[in-house]
Amino acid sequence: MQGMAATLATEDDMRNVAAFYASKTAKPGFATNKATVALGEKIWRGGLADKKVPACSGCHGPSGAGIPSQYPRTAGQHAAYTEAQLLAFRSGARKNNAQMMGVVAGMTDADIKAVSDYIAGLR
Ligand code: HEC
Repeated sequence: MQGMAATLATEDDMRNVAAFYASKTAKPGFATNKATVALGEKIWRGGLADKKVPACSGCHGPSGAGIPSQYPRTAGQHAAYTEAQLLAFRSGARKNNAQMMGVVAGMTDADIKAVSDYIAGLR
C-alpha cells in the first residue's frame, strides 16, 4: 500500500480517490458453504465464549456495516480477503490493531473460514 499511496501527491488526491470509492455501491455477496453457516453466524452474533472470542457484531455492527472511522465495514467482503486478514492478525503478519489480534487469538482455521464465509453474505 505504501507504494500506491506514495503516488497520491496531495491530500486532495487522497480525498478524490476516497470520494470515488464512496460513490460506488457494494455488490451483495453470498455465503457459499451451507455446512459452516451456522457456526459463522454464531461467531458473528455471539462469539465463542469457551475460546474467549468476542462477538464480531459487537464492534462491526449486527449487519456488518461497521461504525465509520472506528470499526470498518466487513459485510459482503470476499471471503478469501476476510480469511486472509484474520489469519494475518492471528500470525502477527498484520499487527496494526491490537483489538483484532486479540479477537482472533483463540480461533481455529475452521472458525476463521466459517465466519469469513458468513460475512460474505451479510448485508
Ligand atoms: C473490540 C472490537 C472488535 C471486535 C469484537 C471485532 N473487531 Fe474486527 N476490527 C476491529 C477494528 C478496530 C478493526 C480495524 C483494524 C485496522 O485499523 O486495521 C477491525 C478490522 C477487522 C477486519 C479487517 C478489515 C479490512 O478491511 O481489512 C476484519 C476482516 C475483521 N475486523 C473481522 C472481524 C471478525 C470476523 C470479528 C469476530 C470474530 C471481529 N472482527 C471482531 C474491531 C473489532
